[in-house]
Amino acid sequence: MTETDFLPDPYTNLPTEGKVTWKAPSNIALVKYWGKKTNQIPANPSVSFTLDACATTTTIFFTRKKDTSQFSFDLFLEGKSKEDFKPKIQVFFERIERYIPFLKSYHFKIETSNSFPHSSGIASSASGMAALALCLVDMEKVMNPEMGKDFFNRKASFLARLGSGSACRSIEGDLIQWGEHKPIADSSNLYGIKYPFKVNPVFKNFHDTILLVHKGQKQVSSSVGHNLMHNHPYAERRFGQAHENMENLKTIFSEGNLEGFIKVVESEALTLHAMMMTSMPYFILMKPDTLQIINKIWDYRKDTKIPICFTLDAGANVHVLYPESAKEKAIQFIQDELVAHCENGHYICDRIGNGARKLLENTQ
Ligand code: PMV
Repeated sequence: MTETDFLPDPYTNLPTEGKVTWKAPSNIALVKYWGKKTNQIPANPSVSFTLDACATTTTIFFTRKKDTSQFSFDLFLEGKSKEDFKPKIQVFFERIERYIPFLKSYHFKIETSNSFPHSSGIASSASGMAALALCLVDMEKVMNPEMGKDFFNRKASFLARLGSGSACRSIEGDLIQWGEHKPIADSSNLYGIKYPFKVNPVFKNFHDTILLVHKGQKQVSSSVGHNLMHNHPYAERRFGQAHENMENLKTIFSEGNLEGFIKVVESEALTLHAMMMTSMPYFILMKPDTLQIINKIWDYRKDTKIPICFTLDAGANVHVLYPESAKEKAIQFIQDELVAHCENGHYICDRIGNGARKLLENTQ
C-alpha cells in the first residue's frame, strides 16, 4: 500500500457529536529503529514485542463546529489540563490532516491517562499516539462503515507513525515488524505488520520487567537522537546490521533459540547506545545503575544458565526479558539483586501482549 491508499473518499455523514475510547499498549523493540528520513520514514527495519500492562487510555469527545479554518482541541492528562502537550498534538494533526480531512470540522476534548506513572521515564509517546490514532480511525469508521479490520489497523498504524515512529508498532500484538526489509514481502516503511514468520511458543509468553533506573526527563529527546544519525560515521553499517539481525531473528524465532535471541537483543540495545555515544554531539543516556544491572544480569546468566537478558530504550531504564519457564527464578533475582538499582525501588512487571482494544462504556 502507498500513502494515497490512506486518503479517504469524501464522507457522506459527519456525526454532530460523540465519544470514543481506545487503550493502546507500549512496545519494546528487539531490533531497534534509530535514524529516520523525512515524514517519519525509518532508516532501517525494526521488530518489537507489544507490551500489555504499560498502556495509554484515550477518550476523545468530538463536537461538530462551524469554523473549519483551524484545529480546535483541549487536552487533559490524568484529568489535568496539559498545555505543554498541545504543540505535539498540533503538529500531529497537521501531519495527518490529509488522511483525516474531518479534523478541522470538530472540536475535540482529548482525555488521556497512562497505566504507568507519568514521570517514570517510560516513553508514553508510542502508546499515546497509538491510542489517539485509533480513536480518530474509529471516528472515520462511523463515516465509512465499510472499512475492514485490516485496513482499520493499518491506517491506525500509519497515522500513529506520523505522531511517533515507534507508535506504529503499538496497534496490534504480539510481535510487530516495521520498515522495508526485502525478505518480508509485506513489510512497509509506512506502518507496522504482524511478524509474518513462524514463532516458537517460547517467545509467545515472554516477560518484560522494566527497572525504573531514572525517572526524570532524559537529556536528549529521541527526535534529536534520530536526527544525529544523519552524517553519523557508522550509520550505514548500523542500518545494514539491523537488516542482518532481522534475518538472524527469523531462524531464532522459528527454532525457539533463546541463546541466539539473547545475543541479538543485547547487541541491538548496546548498539543503539553506541550510536548515541558516537554521534556529534555525543551523549550518554545510561546511568551507573544501568551498567551495574547489565553486569549483574550477565553474571547471573553465566552462573545459573537461566536465559534472562536485557534490552534498553532511549533512556536509562532496563527492560529485563525472560521466558515463562524462568519466571519465578527471574523475579527472585530481580527482587534480590536488581531492585536496589531502581529509583525508589520502582519497577513494572509487564509481558508480551495482544495489542490495542476499544473500551466501551463502563469498562477498564
Ligand atoms: O518512536 P520514537 O521516535 O520515540 O523512537 C523510539 C526509538 C527507540 O525506542 C529507541 C527504538 C525503537 O525501535 O523503539
